[in-house]
Amino acid sequence: MRLAGLGYLGLCTTRIADWESFALDVVGLGLSAREPDGTLRLRVDERLHRVTLRPAEESGVDFIGWELHDRAGFEAALETLDSMGVAKEVVTGQDAMDARRVAAYVAFRDPAGTQVELFHGPLSDGRRLMSRHGSTFVTGDLGLGHVFLMVDRFQETCEFYEALGFRLSDRTADGAFSFYRCNPRQHSLGLGDLGAGTGLPAGLQHFMVQYEDLDAVGHVYDACLQGGARLATTFGRHSNDRMLSFYVTTPDGWDMEVGHGGIRVDEDTWVVCELEIDSIWGHRPVSAQVAEAAEV
Ligand SMILES: [Fe+2]
Repeated sequence: MRLAGLGYLGLCTTRIADWESFALDVVGLGLSAREPDGTLRLRVDERLHRVTLRPAEESGVDFIGWELHDRAGFEAALETLDSMGVAKEVVTGQDAMDARRVAAYVAFRDPAGTQVELFHGPLSDGRRLMSRHGSTFVTGDLGLGHVFLMVDRFQETCEFYEALGFRLSDRTADGAFSFYRCNPRQHSLGLGDLGAGTGLPAGLQHFMVQYEDLDAVGHVYDACLQGGARLATTFGRHSNDRMLSFYVTTPDGWDMEVGHGGIRVDEDTWVVCELEIDSIWGHRPVSAQVAEAAEV
């Protein structure tokens, strides 16, 4: 199976109003549609659905969508899922377009229970989003960004994603975190072992979007300091993808990473490393006290 990248992300939230201002005003995503049930569809580039926010009784991940290059790739992926013995639901035609703005998708669960989807044929209007912060987001052949999940059944979950075509880019030397790619983005998927005692809760730990322009990241940082959201970390540069970024706490308590300038992997020369540290500098936790002082 040859995946093109992270395609879309579906979130459910108990705080949809807070999310709307956070996503649009602070992070700088674009509003694509507002559904009658209050669901918000957000755009990041020329696609009409990249992130869905659904009002719900609980917060969490509804689904994570990974993209195939074309219909043939999608059909081959269905065969791979069958060979893996995965229980799946295939959605096509108008139902797929209504639900995900794609030609077809297949939904199933990973060993940790997250709903994973594979799809092809995303709806696009060809107009790349210019963020209110004066920059486009880096997507294209690198996909939407990356997601980082804390999972139980860690080894089994890693092997599951490897069977779907993800390639290990690196992992931390303590074995607690593994980073996977499916295109030149250094990692589109990060997995953390819930049993490793990191203290991080189960589920989506963070979602990363990458700005073309560093100044846009600075504008998001300023918007946080001006009271738009609570900083989770300071600026820093990661040791693996070399992303210059910071983390901000979303209305649901997990983090978004807003970054700029990550590397592209050359498949012919990439070497899988054991990482001693995850950041070369920075990414220091911002204490509640400091965050509150910044909000005054
Ligand atoms: Fe990240």
